[in-house]
Amino acid sequence: MKNFFNKFNIDNQEFLTIIDELVNNETVKEMKKYRQHYETTCFDHCYMVSYYCYLICKKYNLDYISATRAGMLHDLFLYDWRVRQPDRKGLHAFTHGKLACENASKLFDLNQKEKDMIITHMWPVTMKFPTSIEGFILTFVDKYCATSETLEVLKSRLLMKRALRYAYVFLSFIMIRF
Ligand SMILES: [Fe+2]
Ligand SMILES: [Fe+2]
Repeated sequence: MKNFFNKFNIDNQEFLTIIDELVNNETVKEMKKYRQHYETTCFDHCYMVSYYCYLICKKYNLDYISATRAGMLHDLFLYDWRVRQPDRKGLHAFTHGKLACENASKLFDLNQKEKDMIITHMWPVTMKFPTSIEGFILTFVDKYCATSETLEVLKSRLLMKRALRYAYVFLSFIMIRF
């Protein structure tokens, strides 16, 4: 697998063709406005989930087209989930799968597997089990991407902290000498 943050270098023509209709839709593009995990937008998160679902499902001769499409649409909820939404009942983690499916169904002709994959992608946080192997793959890929996005930022913050500490020691040393 490519490094997680090489996302803009994806040149797999088959993947790009499957996803073309979705990523060029104006509503889907709106996901670029919302942060998902730390510095990753909702759009980029979905894009990477979609790509990894494509790679895994293609490798194991599964329904990679449905997996790619469901991966790209699985978080199409279009609000900042950190901010309480007065018009929404229930916790984001438990409700956004269903909402993403409703939003995606208004824009695209989704098959039943794609709908089920989107609705159940938060399993096991939500009780509803995925109904297909592709659905299980989406749940694991989603968690892998979320963890990678979080760790990448924490790692860079840790490195920055270490760099600042070295700079502080170095400057202290210079000041002592002069
Ligand atoms: Fe989600
Ligand atoms: Fe997600």
